Amino acid sequence: DRKQATCIAPVNIAVVKYWGKRDENLILPINSSLSGTLSTDQMCAKTTIAISKSFQRDRLWINGKEQDATGKRLQNCLREVRSRCGSEIEGCHYHICSVNNFPTAAGLASSAAGYACLGEYFEYKEGITKIQFTIRQGSGSACRSMYGGFVKWEMGNKSDGSDSIAVQVTPESHWPEMEVLILVVSDKKKGVSSTSGMQTSVKTSKLLKYRAESLVPKLMTEMETAIQQKNYQAFAEITMKDSNQFHAVCLDTYPPIAYMNDISHKIVQLITHFNQYCGEYKACYTFDAGPNAVLYVLAKDVPQILSAVCHYFPCTENHDSYIQGLSNYSDVKEFPKEIENTICLDPIPGSLTGIIHTRVGSGPRVILDD
Ligand code: DP6
Repeated sequence: DRKQATCIAPVNIAVVKYWGKRDENLILPINSSLSGTLSTDQMCAKTTIAISKSFQRDRLWINGKEQDATGKRLQNCLREVRSRCGSEIEGCHYHICSVNNFPTAAGLASSAAGYACLGEYFEYKEGITKIQFTIRQGSGSACRSMYGGFVKWEMGNKSDGSDSIAVQVTPESHWPEMEVLILVVSDKKKGVSSTSGMQTSVKTSKLLKYRAESLVPKLMTEMETAIQQKNYQAFAEITMKDSNQFHAVCLDTYPPIAYMNDISHKIVQLITHFNQYCGEYKACYTFDAGPNAVLYVLAKDVPQILSAVCHYFPCTENHDSYIQGLSNYSDVKEFPKEIENTICLDPIPGSLTGIIHTRVGSGPRVILDD
């Protein structure tokens, strides 16, 4: 039996967003969603989990700092696992130690990756489908981090949630050209959490209801087809429209929620004008419950997009660490003057804290087991 193991699990970024629960206890969503799993080389949580009778209580460390392990989310997860493991772990407690391999100051959501590590640890016990129900107690979107490539979380219809599961749409080998640029926006303050934001949206936004019932089903089908056919033009358009719609729902929520800031909007302008100049989609943006932009870009177009982004959001401090991952700042080409003349952006203060260049990658794995 597994006593101690270290697992690695990826972050995922939705291109059709999950927003709203129809059951708060079982964590059942009001709409299906679809995401890309990011490569664990640049973006992952690495978690060591140990279980012992000699531990007096559950304990949790994140990035070296001890956290409160009595929180509802973690305890709900552990309770489910305990109830399934039964007498063999009676009187045992867990020590869980999780670190992210990306800068935490980036303000990027990592709880899905953290809970997917727990999922990977307990998978041998419950199987990959059942374990999803457990880790969703921690973070709903964590179930999509259990697979690599592109993954959909089918909302299901049953009230017991047995048909609400994440499944792989295509493995990471299907579209290896798909790369990802995370534009980390300088914004320290923490906004409304996804959990409470979506609760308020469910209660107050009629647009959310319309989106979930009448728009998302079609978006899901179109997105799956775009991915299966590796149709970037269709993929890009749906991704941007879905992100815009999600943030429109946030503004339709009362009181309204604004996750995007002036810099986020300037990124939208830049990508829109650049695509217009090119006459086709070269990049598409998506924003989660925060101001950071995630761009899905085909490998061939990454140099051009990086040159545009670095021109309008220049590095002000440390050049060596401005771009992390698959590209370097020193390789970024100068932005052509003739394009600059046709792109006009709102002059606003502030820039990015950095850029992470990664790609769509594989699912979680156990790296060390006793
Ligand atoms: C905007 O999975 O963080 O990133 O289920 O309450 O833990 P809880 O919410 P969470 O919500 C993610 C919201 C989103 C969209 C998405 O990832 O689909």
